[in-house]
Amino acid sequence: MRKIGLIAGDAHPKLAHRIAELTGADETGVSISAFADGETRIRIEGDVRDSDVYIVQPTSTPTNERLLTLALLADAARGAGASRITAVVPYFGYARQDVRSRPGEPRSARLAAQILGSAGIDRLIAFELHSAALESAFPMPIVHLQADELMLPAIRRWGLRDAVIVSPDAGGLKRAQRFASALRVPLAAVAKTRPGDDAAVARQVLGDVRGRPCVIVDDMASTGGTIVAAAEALLAAGAAEIHAVFIHAVMARGALERICAVARRISTTDSVNDASDPRLQVEGTAPLLAGAVRELAGTGGGAAPSS
Ligand code: R5P
Repeated sequence: MRKIGLIAGDAHPKLAHRIAELTGADETGVSISAFADGETRIRIEGDVRDSDVYIVQPTSTPTNERLLTLALLADAARGAGASRITAVVPYFGYARQDVRSRPGEPRSARLAAQILGSAGIDRLIAFELHSAALESAFPMPIVHLQADELMLPAIRRWGLRDAVIVSPDAGGLKRAQRFASALRVPLAAVAKTRPGDDAAVARQVLGDVRGRPCVIVDDMASTGGTIVAAAEALLAAGAAEIHAVFIHAVMARGALERICAVARRISTTDSVNDASDPRLQVEGTAPLLAGAVRELAGTGGGAAPSS
């Protein structure tokens, strides 16, 4: 097996350290700073020559900076002689802008993926992309990990009786369906519209939720508007209580307070940051990501198939 090197980007160094511990990878020293004019300055300080290098960086807020820093780290590692570069991206920003929904808009997710490809990233480990269809936007082989083994036990531990899994919009239906069938509980959905960029309105509840605890399952909470709108519609339709599961805690300002006002329990992961608030039950992603790193490092070839 080739020497493995792990580089922590600036978005979530704690997660990178945990992955390094679990894989036994050497953490490569890197300095990330800014010039006076705001340009990012990167310098790889360790030896990555002939190494199989893994760069850990969720492209979370501030998305443009995190994305470009990841690209610069890859370019620097390539220039320093890394033999193969894999980006470990537990949260991929721009994922929601995966289609041109109106004339005049860019295909932002595709462009972000191509930027990473042109920086010399050979393979990418992603975790719960906004949609499976997004896999094809990446020019390199991709391992797409799912959150089921983290979130399903968390929901089971709640010990809810007669629960219903709810997708808060049409886009999340496949994931919610997966969860409902694994837990052997019914599925419901909310028909959502977006009257503005960050606004969510729940139009209708599809399915019977009367008297039942509802577990809303979504890929992320940003403003919290989607979960809150769904929760209010479910309560109006007779739901007994609301619990929320979202995989990526993006959490724009005030989102946690908004969600806490409607949900009794909240489960999420540390894909974006440590999410260290006592109101959140946080599942660690390091073992899952470390497993993918170990597998790729062991195979020596292209990316393994998506899980
Ligand atoms: C939408 O398609 C996503 O799956 C999430 O439902 C949404 O992006 C969450 O954003 P917010 O919390 O701002 O409603």
